[in-house]
Amino acid sequence: MTDRITIPRPDDWHLHLRDGAVLEAVLADTARHFGRAIVMPNLVPPVTSGAAADAYRARILAALPAGSDFTPLMTLYLTEATSADDVRSAANTGIVHAVKLYPAGATTNSEAGVRDIETVYPVLEAMSEIGLPLLVHGEVVDSGVDIFDREAVFLDRVLAPLRARFADLKIVLEHVTTKDGVDFVQCAGPNTAGTITPHHLMINRNALFNKGLRPHFYCLPVAKREHHRLALVEAATGGGEQFFLGTDSAPHPDKDKETACGCAGIYVAPVTMTCLAQVFDDAGKISNLEKFVSLNGPGFYGLPVNDATLTLERCVDPAIFPVSISAGADTITLFDPGVPLHWMVAD
Ligand code: NCD
Ligand code: ZN
Repeated sequence: MTDRITIPRPDDWHLHLRDGAVLEAVLADTARHFGRAIVMPNLVPPVTSGAAADAYRARILAALPAGSDFTPLMTLYLTEATSADDVRSAANTGIVHAVKLYPAGATTNSEAGVRDIETVYPVLEAMSEIGLPLLVHGEVVDSGVDIFDREAVFLDRVLAPLRARFADLKIVLEHVTTKDGVDFVQCAGPNTAGTITPHHLMINRNALFNKGLRPHFYCLPVAKREHHRLALVEAATGGGEQFFLGTDSAPHPDKDKETACGCAGIYVAPVTMTCLAQVFDDAGKISNLEKFVSLNGPGFYGLPVNDATLTLERCVDPAIFPVSISAGADTITLFDPGVPLHWMVAD
């Protein structure tokens, strides 16, 4: 039995750091375990230009704990007003590593996103030429489509035609939640990858309604049926190169989640490595953890693997985490999968 593993320092390929007091509160939790993170641009207002990305990056660096060598990898928020030149010049700065496609209205702060995908085709053409990945929130917003089907319908209606039209474009299907998504990525060739969150590996949709409504298990795309979760576990732990970690750690103040219309997003960053080690160990695949968290992501993005390392150890007593953290006057609840976790990051 493996009781201790040392892997190249992991990266998080999908992270919400927010701004202001929340940024100050959450950044250290990611910087403690991760070398780099792809930082989502869905601020208010969204990060739509290279200059805005540069300014946001500076705020992140200023909020880092002293001595941290964490590197934020910035993204641009794609709107119908984004031009190919905007994207080329942002990519030329070297700090923008991807462009994020939010279908307008699909999730938190996505109103400025894209309604008609064809309007952004010239931008996608330019990205394809310069090798800049497109990160996709893969859900249709059509209210006639059941919320549990929105990912699968998106694959058919939007992603399959996009994949066929821009064969050279690097596309990441973010936070895959269905077997349909797993199958799509696996069949789509090496220019397509998928990120998977720790929480979608650990909970299915029952968790949302377990003896009452559980707002801290609500995120988008929403967790699906158990057979989808099992497909995600197989994809993540299977050792294939096309899947890697994107935590989608999405902190919201408890007051915005525990309310009549609670918002979507799960704060998972602090518990991510413990959760993943448990999932991989339970699957008998702990030796594949480094591919998922440390090797596959840099491979897809064309970046070096981190030189630093991270060690995880099996622990006899279950790992204990705080229930929540403070952010200014607010609290933010951590993801708790509700099962004992017997791995910890070693100091
Ligand atoms: C994210 C957020 O809060 O910004 N929420 C979520 O439920 N995942 C946005 C997103 O990634 O969809
Ligand atoms: Zn997200």
